[in-house]
Amino acid sequence: MFVKTDLLPPDAILGLTKLAAADQRAEKVDLGVGVYKTVDGATPIMRAVDLAEQALIKQEKTKAYTPADGAPGFGEAILELVFGADSEQVSSGRTIAVQSPGGCGALRLAGEVLTRNDAAGISAGAPTWANHKPLLTAAGLEVHMIPYYDTKASAIDFDAFIASIKKLGPADALLLHGACHNPTGADLSHAQIDTVIDVAAERGFLPLIDTAYHGFATDLETDAYIIREMTRRLPEVLITYSCSKNFGLYRERTGAIIFAGRNPDQAAAVKSHIINIARASYSMPPAHGGAIVSEILHSPELTQSWRDELAAMNLAVRNNRKLLVDAAREAGLGNQLSYITEQNGMFSLLPLTLDDVKVLREEFAIYIVGAGRINLCGVNASNVGYLVQSLSTILNR
Ligand code: LMR
Repeated sequence: MFVKTDLLPPDAILGLTKLAAADQRAEKVDLGVGVYKTVDGATPIMRAVDLAEQALIKQEKTKAYTPADGAPGFGEAILELVFGADSEQVSSGRTIAVQSPGGCGALRLAGEVLTRNDAAGISAGAPTWANHKPLLTAAGLEVHMIPYYDTKASAIDFDAFIASIKKLGPADALLLHGACHNPTGADLSHAQIDTVIDVAAERGFLPLIDTAYHGFATDLETDAYIIREMTRRLPEVLITYSCSKNFGLYRERTGAIIFAGRNPDQAAAVKSHIINIARASYSMPPAHGGAIVSEILHSPELTQSWRDELAAMNLAVRNNRKLLVDAAREAGLGNQLSYITEQNGMFSLLPLTLDDVKVLREEFAIYIVGAGRINLCGVNASNVGYLVQSLSTILNR
């Protein structure tokens, strides 16, 4: 069976994590995988998560199966978090959430439910997260790349994006990023989101909003604008949600697929298909991460602690952006990197080529994804000088 099986190259992001971990050079700067890091390079367990976990260990009486839609209370809590407690989307019953194994699991379910409903394809603005295309293609969807970010101008090419989505129709889906675009950090403004909604309303395509960094742009409420506004104004929207970054639950594989439909009956029907797809794949999601999120969001004290820590993480990454841009200026790079302070979340794209990235890794022990995506969490006061000097060597070559 497997005599002709060839060895695949390592994953673009996870393969880099492995390489970086094995690199013993003292000057190493790891700007790879999208994981929050403190100045010491640690990714601590969030306080609220720790407390919730301890409480759960005391309460847990069984390891029997959890419901197919996830840990008890998880779905309702996520819907309230995403749409707001008093929102029409929640009170009307036209939204559903199903817990998934991480944001990846949610994307796979979204892709499969779109394929099941005869979607002609899904369009995604370029560049997008390296795993979007593999995930959605594996779910049976044709993925079409359309313009989004102009790497030369280090800015969104909104006109080109709008011109492309004006060609989509009711059989198409459009992949959008919730706050904190991966890999560029360049988010649509609220006014631009409104324009995208106008086009979606006119053309009838279905938005799929992939949200992996909720709370890392401005705050949980402002970051939800794209979701709240799209689901308020459009009849059908899919959302994939990851709790990896904002709850720091990476390895617990905790996420959700959310559908906002026309009415409760339609939402229930779509939910039944999502559960049916999951049953034919992994049966049901792992309970632990969902139970932690539910425990936190059902406790006002833990919720406050979690919100405060998330806001502090957001601020720390924002400060790293400033640190890098200021250091780049001091290193003689002028305003070449100043766009970085205007962007959101963990990532920005540096104006590098794949060859530059290879040289930075091999000669300078600096780890960068693809053709220039950096995780700003890896920048700190002790390595920023070395980082900008190395970058200026490459950029001024
Ligand atoms: C990333 O973009 O680095 C993260 O979302 C981790 C991953 O799975 O790729």
